[in-house]
Amino acid sequence: MSSANITLDNLQKSFGDVDVIPGLSVEITSGSFTVILGPSGCGKSTLLNMVAGLEEVSAGRILIGGREVQNTPPKDRGLAMVFQNYALYPHMTVAENIGYALKVAKVGKGERLKRVAKAAAFVELGDYLDRRPSELSGGQRQRVAIARAIVREPEVLLYDEPLSNLDAKLRHGMRMELHDLHKRIGATSVFVTHDQVEAMTLADNIIIMKEGRIEQFGTPQEIYHEPVSAFVAGFVGAPPMNLVTARVEGGKLVFNEGTIGMIKAPDGPVTLGIRPEKIVADQGAISVSLVYEEDLGSHRVIVSEAADGQRLQLTTQLAPEARFGIRFPSDAVHLFNPKTGERLEFSVEPITS
Ligand SMILES: Nc1ncnc2c1ncn2[C@@H]1O[C@H](COP(=O)(O)OP(=O)(O)O)[C@@H](O)[C@H]1O
Ligand SMILES: [Mg+2]
Repeated sequence: MSSANITLDNLQKSFGDVDVIPGLSVEITSGSFTVILGPSGCGKSTLLNMVAGLEEVSAGRILIGGREVQNTPPKDRGLAMVFQNYALYPHMTVAENIGYALKVAKVGKGERLKRVAKAAAFVELGDYLDRRPSELSGGQRQRVAIARAIVREPEVLLYDEPLSNLDAKLRHGMRMELHDLHKRIGATSVFVTHDQVEAMTLADNIIIMKEGRIEQFGTPQEIYHEPVSAFVAGFVGAPPMNLVTARVEGGKLVFNEGTIGMIKAPDGPVTLGIRPEKIVADQGAISVSLVYEEDLGSHRVIVSEAADGQRLQLTTQLAPEARFGIRFPSDAVHLFNPKTGERLEFSVEPITS
């Protein structure tokens, strides 16, 4: 199948006097898998629905393969969409569900059956063509919904939280299937989710969305290692990055009684970010008490509390005492403006004395 790039040019949406999307521009590369990640209510579905043509744009342009489509009917945009709630026809078989759009488009029966069989094989439903949706598991129903989308051989595939109704184990399986499917069909895919694990595992690029705006656009690695704001930092990672208040004092970065490192920044409070897996639980200078621990077999997730009451989550192989010392390697520390949440580019140098 072929694919097309998608350009959103100052795309805007308001409902009455509420600006849900105040003006959003992005370039999505042909053939890529882009995940739009953001909290519930930030405008993800609204954005995707505008691309699909299910929602009118208030202003701005949508280009698919260089062609302006914001006024084009959905069926002529060369795209297909998969929804969270599958939306299958209960009285139709799997084959009829998958082939319905082709039938509406008056594709001949021979061609239709061929394409239905091919799409069903893509999602490994070849043996289920005569079943009805009620005779399928949740994961199989979602695969019918995906087959129904790819049967039209779209250049663009849009997914709105398609895995949210599945249990955790099935979601993992479906992530692998979607990854594999994307490799094979190659359509440009835009996938909306509020689940950061889905974003990290599926995406070539992630768009972090906040209140209708793009907070950060980057690869999963960039989003994880160089979050542009405390918002992004706290949104990805499981458990997410710790965000605590530290302070700069006479060239030193200090958290509670521990000096993290040397820093060339003005005195005052800063938001310090550190990932749970980067905190070293040994005889560090920051004394914490154990609040809660979960032993997951391979490692423990620990909630600890520093002297000033701020809490930190860490992951470790060690079984900690009721009180223990931790330290933050200076190169694992992220700093953010405590007021705006923006990333601060000050580097923290190890203490040399
Ligand atoms: N038809 C509508 N009329 C009025 N407000 C809407 C409508 N659709 C969505 N909204 C509002 O737009 C915001 C974004 O919604 P939505 O795009 O569904 O968010 P998400 O998919 O990220 O959870 C929400 O505040 C929601 O209440
Ligand atoms: Mg939504």
